[in-house]
Amino acid sequence: MQTRHFLTLRDFSPEELRQILNRGAELKRLQAAGTAWTPLQGKTLAMVFGLSSTRTRVAFETGMHQLGGHAINLGPADSQIGRGEPVEDTARVLSEMVDVVMIRTLSHDEVTAFARASSVPVINGMTARFHPCQLLADMQTYEEVQGRTIEGRTVAFVGDGYNMCNSYINAARQFRFRLRIAAPESHQPDGDLLADTDNAELVESPKAAVENADLVVTDVWSSMGHDEEAAERRNVFDGYQVSPSLLDLANQDAIFMHCLPAHRGEEVSEDLLDDPRSVVYTEAGNRLHSQKALLEFLLADR
Ligand code: CP
Repeated sequence: MQTRHFLTLRDFSPEELRQILNRGAELKRLQAAGTAWTPLQGKTLAMVFGLSSTRTRVAFETGMHQLGGHAINLGPADSQIGRGEPVEDTARVLSEMVDVVMIRTLSHDEVTAFARASSVPVINGMTARFHPCQLLADMQTYEEVQGRTIEGRTVAFVGDGYNMCNSYINAARQFRFRLRIAAPESHQPDGDLLADTDNAELVESPKAAVENADLVVTDVWSSMGHDEEAAERRNVFDGYQVSPSLLDLANQDAIFMHCLPAHRGEEVSEDLLDDPRSVVYTEAGNRLHSQKALLEFLLADR
């Protein structure tokens, strides 16, 4: 049996992604009802974190616990990767001991190399290029809050054309929605991804992106790896803040998402996360349920 990995949304078919979204919603209902579901008894997830995390780590660790399995956290100082052991060697060693690996590091190539050497499923817990786990939660959240699928809807991404924006381009293709992106010229998303996706386009301003949108999304102006550029980036992204008044241009029932952590006063106004249209905490909570569905999918029949 071929080992499946989840490094980008394009590793799975639209039908498989749909199955995971539906399952995430079902697992959320089971958990809320207090119904134990423990198919991963005896299974172990290794989480390799080269970068900080709150949501990703807690969702995977809690998810493995609720599914009857176990998770091991390997922070930057906890594994030999930090001391230069090749990722391929680490992948082969972990494959001998655990059933699934999640890895978060800036280099997407490193995650790809890790997966190539791994005989157990590898999950991308975020790289500089993609954050596919976040998109599972975002799509589940849209459908849960709005009671309809995102297919055919219009999504506005405002801000840095970085890993979240790239992931939204992939999501537009896989979940069949229209994506309008407003990003400064110096911080545009991956051109190859855009060229390969019919339903994503760059627009000239945040207003043009948000007008009549069903979902508005942003991310921090200085993601992990860009901390030293924070002051310069505040100038570059001036005018790209999402606020309640910008959101007023969207459709009347539009909602707002942010993968968090957020910087109030920068990419979001001080009051936006408390606006009734913001669903960021439900979105964060759905990291748990969607990642449980992902783990179940990857470990089924193994
Ligand atoms: N959104 C997200 O991935 O959060 P963490 O960095 O806290 O994991």
